[in-house]
Amino acid sequence: MSILRRGSIKNVVNDRIKLGWYDHLLECTKDLDNIKILALGGEIPLVTEALKHINITLHIMDLPGVCKAGRSMYPEVEYFEDLKLVDDKYDIITSYLSLMYVDSLEETLEIYRSRNPQYLVFGHVIATEEKTYIAKQGKVSYRIYNMKDIIELLPNFELVKQDEYPLDYKKLRGKLNLKEDTPIKSLNFYFRNKEL
Ligand SMILES: C[S@@+](CC[C@H](N)C(=O)[O-])C[C@H]1O[C@@H](n2cnc3c(N)ncnc32)[C@H](O)[C@@H]1O
Repeated sequence: MSILRRGSIKNVVNDRIKLGWYDHLLECTKDLDNIKILALGGEIPLVTEALKHINITLHIMDLPGVCKAGRSMYPEVEYFEDLKLVDDKYDIITSYLSLMYVDSLEETLEIYRSRNPQYLVFGHVIATEEKTYIAKQGKVSYRIYNMKDIIELLPNFELVKQDEYPLDYKKLRGKLNLKEDTPIKSLNFYFRNKEL
């Protein structure tokens, strides 16, 4: 039985995309013991809040300012400012609305693969049916992904589940500086390691 509890997150979040992502995490923890999770992007302490009452090892990789704040708020969590410096092995690697900010999808997923996790759980990935492209929100650049690019970079993982959430493309187009006429959606999905 999973050691995660849906009830533990209900006070923290009422957003259906976040709950969908959390449900995927719950599924992945069902058969695992002594779970060690790496989360990319931890500014909103959703994972931390949901998991702090249970026995789990949580590592978070984020920008230096977020790590500094996190270390004082959550001393039980280990923070990393560089993805290359995270531990050698995790059971689950996850991210929620954070993969879009990485400089290189290729390098990021290569590091994920090298840590040989049982599951990779992706939450709120902004996706397009067109080619992956980079957009800008003020000074911040971020990527709108084509799902095929993610799948191609994870040959030793099988896609287990994928949920789609429509986004109000017209409303977001100006704000997020999206490409003209390329509708976007949000995806929650997870992979299982074929070799474990
Ligand atoms: C929109 S927030 C999502 C935070 C969190 N996952 C949540 O929703 O509960 C994006 C997060 O990605 C982090 N971030 C931005 N650039 C990053 C990078 N290059 N590598 C890792 N994290 C990054 C931000 O600091 C922030 O914590």
